[in-house]
Amino acid sequence: MSLCLSTRAQQIGDSPTLKINATARALKAAGKPVIHLGGGEPIYPAPQSAVEAIIQKANSRQIKYTPSSGTPELKQAIVNYTAAYYGHTFKPQNVLVSAGAKQALFNFLLAAVEPGDEVIFPAPFWVSYPEMVKLAGGTPVIVKPTQGLKVNVDEMVKAITSRTKAVIINSPCNPAGHIFSEDFIRQMVTVCEEKQIFLVLDDIYHQLVYDGNKTPNPCASVKDFNNLVLINGVSKLYGLTGLRIGWAVSENKDLIAAMSKMQAQSTSCNSDISEVAAAAALNGPQECVDDLRAVLEDNRNTLLEELAKIEHLRVEKPQGTFYSFVDFSYYCQDSNKLAAYLLDKALVAVVPGRAFGAEGYLRISFCADKSAIIEGARRIAQTLKNLPPTGIN
Ligand SMILES: Cc1ncc(COP(=O)(O)O)c(C=O)c1O
Repeated sequence: MSLCLSTRAQQIGDSPTLKINATARALKAAGKPVIHLGGGEPIYPAPQSAVEAIIQKANSRQIKYTPSSGTPELKQAIVNYTAAYYGHTFKPQNVLVSAGAKQALFNFLLAAVEPGDEVIFPAPFWVSYPEMVKLAGGTPVIVKPTQGLKVNVDEMVKAITSRTKAVIINSPCNPAGHIFSEDFIRQMVTVCEEKQIFLVLDDIYHQLVYDGNKTPNPCASVKDFNNLVLINGVSKLYGLTGLRIGWAVSENKDLIAAMSKMQAQSTSCNSDISEVAAAAALNGPQECVDDLRAVLEDNRNTLLEELAKIEHLRVEKPQGTFYSFVDFSYYCQDSNKLAAYLLDKALVAVVPGRAFGAEGYLRISFCADKSAIIEGARRIAQTLKNLPPTGIN
């Protein structure tokens, strides 16, 4: 007998973003005037439609288990949403509703990946991809761009082997904020169809794009819908992170059935209240998304103006998401050290680039309040100006 934990548990790292959130919260609770530019949720209030649905549901005093893969009402709302934004009408049975896009992705990996299978995604990447792939028994294959922050199709194709099970693309990309080109998405659709690999599009930020940009629509070039998995959710779109509602859509019946089994045997079903609220948000007025996009675009511009005042940074204009991924390597090559230093000296929380597969960078969120963004960037500027000649130890 032994109380040793599993090898799996020992091999999986903490989520660096959740860790930063927790540290920033703890410092705030201790009375420190921390500015939190590390977060991944808009401060924007919940849509009225969702709030009213929650109140109505609570007043019904009927808060029960729901069908494991999602309520018919929410699935239909997702079908309608997907038809409106992707121009392809899926069926309700093609939808699995989960506790956030994160669980939808995790269910996909558990359902599709065999031990030793490879799952390819570009760097920089969302921090959870490698750990989730490993938890599912697979091997993460990270494709680093040879130039800049964006991989090209050739670099992705070179990484495909006979063990490749899936490719994950996140556009616009957390953390870099770039949108992959239409040509890139079209070619990835074709390659994955030819090689019979799942193409997973993590589209959680697909409507949070600026300067009139659009995210490419994979459905426009799909021939075989069995390969394609669309991941989305209400967290970023409406700032409804606390509902924990996301989904996967795929015409691959076996895949959705297997993913549903994973969910049924782990969480049983989603929260009844959350499903009602998510359906109301999707079916309700969508001006709130335009408002959120406008606020975020203004925040982005403000952050870029402030960062432009700091010497020796390399900053790319984010086309989407609510993150700016900035090269701070002139000041410190070790992003963990620099993030810890800024939290300690400037009381500003940002996320080290190492966690996203890009050392020397820091991810700065612009989903906070505008005044916090300005104050945070100014504190960073001041702290970097006062760096000791020996650098950060
Ligand atoms: C790229 C990406 N995918 C998925 C998620 C998870 O979203 P959800 O809150 O729906 O689980 C996040 C959250 O930060 C994300 O950045």
